Amino acid sequence: MKKIVIGMVAVSALLTACKQTQKPPEAEIKKGYLVYKNNCSACHWETVKPEQIRDIRKQVKAGKRPPFGAPPMSEVSARVKKFYPTEEEFVNFVKDYITNPSKEKGVCLPVAYKIFGVMPPVGKNMSEEAKEAVAKWLYYRFDMSWEEFMKKHPH
Ligand code: HEC
Repeated sequence: MKKIVIGMVAVSALLTACKQTQKPPEAEIKKGYLVYKNNCSACHWETVKPEQIRDIRKQVKAGKRPPFGAPPMSEVSARVKKFYPTEEEFVNFVKDYITNPSKEKGVCLPVAYKIFGVMPPVGKNMSEEAKEAVAKWLYYRFDMSWEEFMKKHPH
């Protein structure tokens, strides 16, 4: 029994080590953040507080425009991870979506398309490197699952 336990600890330590080496270096995440600031932040807020979502929801119900042009990135990250959970799938989806967006491909809540419409292809003018960096930043910057996000920010 003891041996099995030790074996299991060793395996999980190995798995943790793999996970850590896969995570991109801090510098790449930082670069991704700058890409976000320059190319995405005009529409996507980085995060949103539950109270803000509540107030914005009220405004939208009253027929007003929300204060941003797209769902906040904390929400986008959680939502896309629900459908594309691994880093590889997530990064590929994001790089493709920002270059060739469409309602058919998108995984946002239907209400997002209703309020904001489909995202413009902002990635068409971006380098492959910049797209990769911003997609990785979006993956690693947030760690809430979609279920957690919705529980904390009901809307
Ligand atoms: C002009 C406004 C605008 C800009 C700039 C913008 N977006 Fe968006 N984005 C949207 C809108 C609107 C949606 C929601 C509708 C949709 O998904 O197409 C969206 C949705 C998304 C989604 C979710 C896709 C889905 O539907 O599943 C991702 C991922 C995303 N944006 C990434 C980015 C990244 C990364 C950048 C910067 C490189 C960026 N966006 C810049 C407007 C914008």
